[in-house]
Amino acid sequence: MVAPSILAADFAYLADAARAVEGVADWLHVDVMDNHFVPNLTIGLPVVRSLLQATAIPFDIHLMITDPRRWAPEYAEAGAYNVTFHAEACDDPVALAKDLRAAGSRAGLAIDRDTPIEPYLDLLPHLDTLLIMTIKAGFGGQRFMPELLSKVRAARQRVAAEGLQIRIEVDGGIADDTIAQAAEAGADAFVAGTAVYGVPDAAEAVRRLRALAEG
Ligand code: DX5
Ligand code: ZN
Repeated sequence: MVAPSILAADFAYLADAARAVEGVADWLHVDVMDNHFVPNLTIGLPVVRSLLQATAIPFDIHLMITDPRRWAPEYAEAGAYNVTFHAEACDDPVALAKDLRAAGSRAGLAIDRDTPIEPYLDLLPHLDTLLIMTIKAGFGGQRFMPELLSKVRAARQRVAAEGLQIRIEVDGGIADDTIAQAAEAGADAFVAGTAVYGVPDAAEAVRRLRALAEG
């Protein structure tokens, strides 16, 4: 599964960026940042609501905000397909995952660069998506950190051992030269910003990334 991140698109033409990958990409990854959880500010609920009306592609909302309990369910109610919040910002991930499912979306938990995976492995049965950052969350265009793939391997092992139905998503520096390593480690959903919207043909970039992930 490939999820282009519109963080790397031209913010004056977000609907065009979404439509450019419609029918080709699986999810549209939308990075919501509050200039508090991360030192960067992007878009919020009003823009997401409008974008949802402009395209049919399922939305993968990545909340990099300090107060996900307050905001995450609203994205689900607005029609987002998958809503992911950060482990570092939430003291009761299981409760919020339950709220998200009740509000009609898949529930995702994100693990930032400096957060170990082990304390969260027991929560996997309550989640639909586990997003493992392969950079420090906050900005696009950073260099992929292969050492973080050990978390992907640990999660994949647990998912296989328990026969769970959960996506393991990687985010940060995913490109033609890194996606195969992430797939080999056990990821099955790939966020790509710069690699999709930083090149002239976004749809072609998505197709190429998927082929490289499949090996
Ligand atoms: C960064 C965001 C990513 C970002 C990835 O915190 O979560 O989704 O858009 O951008 P690239 O693919 O350029 O690393
Ligand atoms: Zn993201």
